[in-house]
Amino acid sequence: MKARETIILSCILLSSLMLATQVFEKPKLVVYKLRYACDPDGPANLLFSFCNTSLPDDDRVTDLISRLTIYEKIEQLVNTAANVSRLGLPAYQWWGEGLHGVAISPSVHFGGSTPTATSFPLPILSAASYNRTLWNKIAQVTSTEGRAIYNQGRSGLTYWSPNINIARDPRWGRTQETLGEDPKLTSMYAAYFVKGLQEGDYDHNQPREAASGGPRRIKISACCKHFTAHDLDRWKNYDRDHFDAKVTQQDLEDTYNPPFKSCVKEGQSSSLMCSYNRLNGIPMCANYDLLTSTVRNQWGFDGYITSDCDAVALIHDYIHYAPTPEDSVSYVMLAGMDLNCGTTTLLHGMSALRKKLIWEGLIDQHLRNLFSVRMRLGMFDGNPTSLSYGLLGPADVCTDDNQHLALEAARQSLVLLKNEKNALPWKKTDGMKLAVIGPHANATREMLGNYQGYPCKFITPLQGLTGVLSEYSPKIKYEPGCYDAACEGSHLILAARRTTKEADAVVLVVGLSQGHEKEGHDRTSLLLPGHQWALVSAVVEAAAGRPVVLVILSGGPLDVSFANDDPRIQSIIWAGYPGQAGGQAIADVIFGLVNPGGRLAQSWYYENYTNIDMSNMNMRPNASTGYPGRTYRFFTGTPIWEFGHGLSYSNFSYNFVSAPRSIMAPHLRHQLCSSDRAVMKSNINCIDEEKGACKESSFHVRVSVRNDGPLSGDHSALLFSKPPLSGVDGTPLKQLVSFERIHLESGAEQEVVFKVNPCEDLGTVGADGIRTISLGEHTLMVGAEHHTLTVEKWILRHGES
Ligand SMILES: *[C@@H]1O[C@H](CO)[C@@H](O)[C@H](O)[C@H]1NC(C)=O
Ligand SMILES: *[C@@H]1O[C@H](CO)[C@@H](O)[C@H](O)[C@H]1NC(C)=O
Ligand SMILES: *[C@@H]1O[C@H](CO)[C@@H](O)[C@H](O)[C@H]1NC(C)=O
Ligand SMILES: *[C@@H]1O[C@H](CO)[C@@H](O)[C@H](O)[C@H]1NC(C)=O
Ligand SMILES: *[C@@H]1O[C@H](CO)[C@@H](O)[C@H](O)[C@H]1NC(C)=O
Ligand SMILES: *[C@@H]1O[C@H](CO)[C@@H](O)[C@H](O)[C@H]1NC(C)=O
Ligand SMILES: *[C@@H]1O[C@H](CO)[C@@H](O)[C@H](O)[C@H]1NC(C)=O
Repeated sequence: MKARETIILSCILLSSLMLATQVFEKPKLVVYKLRYACDPDGPANLLFSFCNTSLPDDDRVTDLISRLTIYEKIEQLVNTAANVSRLGLPAYQWWGEGLHGVAISPSVHFGGSTPTATSFPLPILSAASYNRTLWNKIAQVTSTEGRAIYNQGRSGLTYWSPNINIARDPRWGRTQETLGEDPKLTSMYAAYFVKGLQEGDYDHNQPREAASGGPRRIKISACCKHFTAHDLDRWKNYDRDHFDAKVTQQDLEDTYNPPFKSCVKEGQSSSLMCSYNRLNGIPMCANYDLLTSTVRNQWGFDGYITSDCDAVALIHDYIHYAPTPEDSVSYVMLAGMDLNCGTTTLLHGMSALRKKLIWEGLIDQHLRNLFSVRMRLGMFDGNPTSLSYGLLGPADVCTDDNQHLALEAARQSLVLLKNEKNALPWKKTDGMKLAVIGPHANATREMLGNYQGYPCKFITPLQGLTGVLSEYSPKIKYEPGCYDAACEGSHLILAARRTTKEADAVVLVVGLSQGHEKEGHDRTSLLLPGHQWALVSAVVEAAAGRPVVLVILSGGPLDVSFANDDPRIQSIIWAGYPGQAGGQAIADVIFGLVNPGGRLAQSWYYENYTNIDMSNMNMRPNASTGYPGRTYRFFTGTPIWEFGHGLSYSNFSYNFVSAPRSIMAPHLRHQLCSSDRAVMKSNINCIDEEKGACKESSFHVRVSVRNDGPLSGDHSALLFSKPPLSGVDGTPLKQLVSFERIHLESGAEQEVVFKVNPCEDLGTVGADGIRTISLGEHTLMVGAEHHTLTVEKWILRHGES
């Protein structure tokens, strides 16, 4: 009855909208609830060509678009796409989130037999694992659980994850969502995560071809966001809606854009999101040069571009870049944006059309991009439960394996920042009296950061420690010290001191929460909030020399130099926002069940970093203004801990086994052209990237890694390169070339092979935005080991041309 009413309602609505020409084929409506498109039992049936799985996707999309009235078309251009009941199309909500597991979002309805999903660490922590396989697996589990929830009719299949913006400034509230400050690391993550969501295993892709050999079928559609140069939410008088990011061609080319290029080219992402900010004056969703010329034409993107939510409305409403809403509609549609998260194109599309600011063919082009992705997801292939992934259901969500991966991810990623005199790991001893103190000591929700779901369960730090020590009849005392991370009062500190005095050892769990760093809120200080510093100091004093471990939960870095400098705090662990099993991982590291191998993906700075104007997007330093530059690649100051910092309970040493001493121009004769053209600074020819010439000239660097310590453990070897004249005239101090995580038993040695692409990895981008390789002495570095390599000019030898 309900269904009939709604269908009749929609019928009235539609006919009142329509210009009377197009009427339903069957005015006699069936009482039917639209479950999925192309339902053989539905009002529409397989007679529609767009439902015919033996036809090529392209033809099916064409057929579908041809059946829509102009009103219906306009209704499909927004995230809440309306149903077209006469064609059997249910409504579709495009906006789903899966940043670190399936997340609460407009398209995801937790409940019924799928009330929860596995919650992984926030990406800023997972990044610290430097483990591509892990990133890929996390995404595979997320897409499996996403499909399972979809099959329950409780979600869509389009996820607006990952967030691959470069975390240029530690104050950014969304740092937790990112992979930190390095474009290479972030590019790798983008590729492996997107593959995991869309296709499964990165290394063994078995693309599912459409019946007719059309574009590949995908499991979940990923979306790389926020394109581009988007990393300021709200700081002082700036906010992301009004912010005009002034970015040089050089920074765009070697910092802000590489992750997006990798997402599209390597990851084959089916979606990209244009960001709120302007770039050098032009709102990103209205930026034809980037959305169409660069992404679609140069990078070969074939998915859909969505706006960030309400990013179209702000173009006329907030920044008055467009005189009217209709102009906004026209600007974004002409620039190449396909979907409006928001309502502007819905409310003003028709009048934009009447004013001839857009035309129906342009709308059709965008619909083609949108429906093609839904087609690739199998949304027009009939009953989802009879298709690939159709058998996934509640039994595939929160499985033991999935939950174990969440634990594993946190274990692989925790970063040991300080460990004086090898104070950790602690030995488990009978009757050990442990004080577990701090606002995050029994954290639950706080471990999930933002874009969270409902986790399968929580293991808090307190529970983790209790579990690890259970067989030793420990006496664990818990005192929060403050009510929450804001730590506004100091009256709980006394109890914390008292508890500390009675203990043999102390675990202090402090840090930030979403009240300090989140979407729409950047920090203005890098210090611990409220009375947390006072709490730590009081507890450390009360501990009177007994072992103290400081555990920090945060997305962005903190100035905890006071703790680094204090010999009474022997050990510091950064645990990011570690997801549902974070407390277990923390306990495992403290008691040595896990040897920590995480390395920071973002530098940690002193509080005086906040003197830098956050709105300054320049990566490069400027001596005349005293601007110190950003990230380990350019920052001229001294951080507390630099990108890549992370200790282990073992020591690892390196040795260059083989690497070329010089590379001659013949290998480099053929260079990349176009946007990423790499040309020698001398005259050298340049051919198309498609011919892969630059790849041919790749060489291998073999490095042996040895575990000199007493324990087995994982270690990520990071290979950096340093160009000639590094740090001069905008040349990076060094840059990450590649990384590899390996497991080594105590005393064992293993060779790691890095593939180096001279164009990409030794090249640097000039002020003109063009990547070139400088002649002269380059340095390859792993840890303290150096290897020099000369890039020599190619000399035309006899017989060569
Ligand atoms: C179609 O959309 C209309 C308008 O939102 C709604 O009233 C109606 O219930 C929907 N019909 C079906 C079958 O979902
Ligand atoms: C589907 O398309 C195939 C290939 O064109 C055609 O042979 C078949 O009759 C179509 N099926 C239906 C139900 O129209
Ligand atoms: C720790 O948190 C868990 C989960 O919220 C709760 O059940 C437990 O009672 C808390 N423990 C203490 C000692 O407060
Ligand atoms: C910032 O503070 C650190 C630590 O006190 C100091 O070493 C550094 O010189 C300061 N930097 C600036 C630019 O003042
Ligand atoms: C450094 O800043 C000055 C003053 O704003 C400016 O004129 C100059 O162009 C900047 N130099 C570089 C290399 O960006
Ligand atoms: C690693 O080497 C450093 C420097 O030689 C030394 O101080 C430290 O104790 C060693 N750590 C381990 C776990 O062996
Ligand atoms: C990388 O992660 C995968 C998946 O969790 C794991 O199987 C593998 O052991 C990890 N590699 C290392 C060296 O830790």
